[in-house]
Amino acid sequence: MEHNTYDFGLVGLGVMGRNFILNVADKGFSAFGHDMDDEKVSSLLKEADKAHNINASTQVKTFVDALHLPRKIMLLVPAGKVVDAVIEGLLPYLDVGDIIIDGGNSFFRDTDRRESYLKSKDIHFFGAGVSGGSKGARFGPSIMPGGSKEAYQEVKPIFEAVAAHFNGEACVAYLGPKSAGNYVKMVHNGIEYGLMQLTSEIYDILKKVGGYTNPELHKLFDTWNQGRLQSFLIEITADILNKKDDQGDGYLVDQILDKAKQKGTGKWTSQNAMDLGIPTPSIDIAVSMRELSAFKEERLRANALYPRNKSGSQDKKMLEEWAEAALYFGFVLTYAQGFHQLSEASKEYGYELDMPTVAKIWRAGCIIRAALLEDITDAFEKDKDISHLLLNAGFASKINPTLPAVRNLTAQGINNGIPLPGLSNALTYFDGFTADRLPLNLIQAQRDYFGSHTYERLDRPGIFHTEWED
Ligand code: 6PG
Repeated sequence: MEHNTYDFGLVGLGVMGRNFILNVADKGFSAFGHDMDDEKVSSLLKEADKAHNINASTQVKTFVDALHLPRKIMLLVPAGKVVDAVIEGLLPYLDVGDIIIDGGNSFFRDTDRRESYLKSKDIHFFGAGVSGGSKGARFGPSIMPGGSKEAYQEVKPIFEAVAAHFNGEACVAYLGPKSAGNYVKMVHNGIEYGLMQLTSEIYDILKKVGGYTNPELHKLFDTWNQGRLQSFLIEITADILNKKDDQGDGYLVDQILDKAKQKGTGKWTSQNAMDLGIPTPSIDIAVSMRELSAFKEERLRANALYPRNKSGSQDKKMLEEWAEAALYFGFVLTYAQGFHQLSEASKEYGYELDMPTVAKIWRAGCIIRAALLEDITDAFEKDKDISHLLLNAGFASKINPTLPAVRNLTAQGINNGIPLPGLSNALTYFDGFTADRLPLNLIQAQRDYFGSHTYERLDRPGIFHTEWED
């Protein structure tokens, strides 16, 4: 084997890694894989076809030596300590100017730490979020890279070739310095949590109040997927609702335990939003509901202690209309909160994010891809300076007509004891964000009363304190 000939290296030949490297080879680049596991190496070589210029090895040195300079090495390994261990394993064999790209869901602060550590060794480090699951990795993911702008030019041709395309544009772009890429991917996942929570609530209320069967729900979601709700998550929801149980009678979805797991990216999004002082209640509640779902035993006991009235019924056509509008509203509000967080994070961490670019690279390939992102791209392109999507007149004209339906559907949930926290949180957030006067004047008065924390006045400038007790 000749040295320094392969265009691209990939460490971690699990499903994601294997699919990604095959995608790279499909596009005509030569690629070399590495994994400590013999079986993973041989299964990649088996899967590669004759047209692919692919090789792989379990030996780090063989792998590194095979790559063209500057080396472009992508890691698709579990986030956390494994990433550090892989970097340490590569370091002795690397040359100045080589590029390491972390394609996992790493925590953005870890990416910052790794970037400055590797900079001290003259190695470029990229945190590049990759979205789209295993199929996306194989046939076109959305890629969110951040790091050194110069070094990005080296990986750009490969990333642009392997990424998903929307209207001929690749769903990848240089996003900004340091951990910008991982940060954007983290918020992508937070939005993903919010959209999934909303979809599950709409499914729940249609089933319990509307009496919809799975085939009816399948048809409805499928129809919605042809309209303004068109998105990957609505599309797969329609498919899921149509899937028969191969282990028994009926539909598989009805046999799935109602406890949702998580790997942490949604929680990080919420935690960091709090640090930034940006409200993201649609994401926060989606995390909380996954946590709440875990308490199945307690929920069953509580269910017996607090019997609820049997759900009422509601005209199906009406409910359907409300549900579609409510889901659209909830989706917009979730994206709006995510983008708000991104714009604040961009200032705080110096990411220099360009919102239309972020919206553009989410239009295909990723889990939150949706027709709506085309409108979001337009809104941010036209209104460069807005920090919040709700301030765009185009969105105001889309949101205003949905409000009666959103309020009616939320009330149906409340009256029937069906939790719609994603939707009601989005509505409460909306009502708060659009309120000219909130009752927080009273909170300021209370703070000043018990703690002399001072307050400002509407009618004159300055800081005031009052002796409230006579
Ligand atoms: C993607 C996904 C992916 C994520 C899964 C699971 O963009 O392809 O966001 O990165 O790992 O969706 O996430 P949870 O286990 O936290 O639900």
